[in-house]
Amino acid sequence: MNRRVIPLNELSAVPAFSSAPGAPRGYVVDRLARPLRDLRISVTDRCNFRCMYCMPRTVFGRDYPFLPHNALLTFEEIERVARLFVAQGVEKIRLTGGEPLLRKHLERLVERLAALRTSDARALDLTLTTNGALLARKARALKDAGLTRVTVSLDALDDTLFKRMNDADFPISSVLDGIEAAHAAGLGPLKINMVVKRGTNDSEIVPMARHFRGSGAVLRFIEYMDVGCTNGWNMAEVLPSADVIDRINTHWPLVPLDAHYPGETAQRWRYVDGAGEIGVISSVTRAFCSSCTRIRLSTEGKAYLCLFANTGHDLRALLRDGVTDEQISDAIARLWRAREDRYSQLRGQAAGGPRVEMSYIGG
Ligand SMILES: C[S@@+](CC[C@H](N)C(=O)[O-])C[C@H]1O[C@@H](n2cnc3c(N)ncnc32)[C@H](O)[C@@H]1O
Ligand code: SF4
Repeated sequence: MNRRVIPLNELSAVPAFSSAPGAPRGYVVDRLARPLRDLRISVTDRCNFRCMYCMPRTVFGRDYPFLPHNALLTFEEIERVARLFVAQGVEKIRLTGGEPLLRKHLERLVERLAALRTSDARALDLTLTTNGALLARKARALKDAGLTRVTVSLDALDDTLFKRMNDADFPISSVLDGIEAAHAAGLGPLKINMVVKRGTNDSEIVPMARHFRGSGAVLRFIEYMDVGCTNGWNMAEVLPSADVIDRINTHWPLVPLDAHYPGETAQRWRYVDGAGEIGVISSVTRAFCSSCTRIRLSTEGKAYLCLFANTGHDLRALLRDGVTDEQISDAIARLWRAREDRYSQLRGQAAGGPRVEMSYIGG
């Protein structure tokens, strides 16, 4: 387990605010000129699944030292720090984990975050990534609390394969019911994320495309990534997104679409016959670091500047040490302005070393 932390005072040499000409106060950019726009908040490091590529049961077993409750940021702390991130330019917040729906009364946090406004008084794009198993029960309350959309992870439609991949005996019906409930509650347009592992579930690419074509949901294929240190990743199990597109294209012709906005992680494709669109997230074969505007807040309040980082920056210490909002804002700005992470671009050249687990930092 790697949870190395850098005290924020080590960053004191970096100026707090951008001096970019004409940039409004609060507009902060990193060393590669990337603005801070997205905040991903992990609300728990626990999960009811044991996906082999994320929390293999051999590592995350009965004795695994998950965080004690008092280590987790409270909803008040999350709201406060989120508000300060929004003041620095964040426009989109995604709740994740672990499995975020395991966090008790999550809708109360959603309600607090939904009330935040950007500096020009806009509501945030407030979303959640879930494995879907508890979604049927929670979708309505989440919508009522102000959640904008959900993304559901789903790696197979075949029940046996799905159970093998989640390694917790959850049937596919639990997730499909969750997707249905989210749709009915108005949490769409839904995104469905499928991690593709060559030789494990690539046979499900076409059945998944068939199932979600014409449903209004956007199916997105994610290349299997070398996050963390426990999933035994190797390049031979990565199926490049280009192959995914080829396989679907032979059944239903596709044409590329423009990105919705600069920095969109997925490349978009449209079915020529009008049955909707799909996306591919090619973080291994086509890194998108140059437009990465994301920061991640771990369950215990450490900020990570990259999914592949090996060190976090302790914001919880500041939140619990009685420092002012302004001091925390300055710390966030310094942190971002010192950022030069671009792991995926450098993959293979970058110095190795332990990386934080996806279930801890949030996907
Ligand atoms: C860590 S999960 C957390 C949220 C929730 N439990 C879920 O599964 O949607 C977030 C996303 O990360 C993806 N993920 C986890 N490990 C991955 C890996 N090694 N490569 C690519 N995606 C991964 C999951 O499939 C999921 O879509
Ligand atoms: S991918 Fe999500 S559902 Fe699967 S083990 Fe990781 S946190 Fe849990």
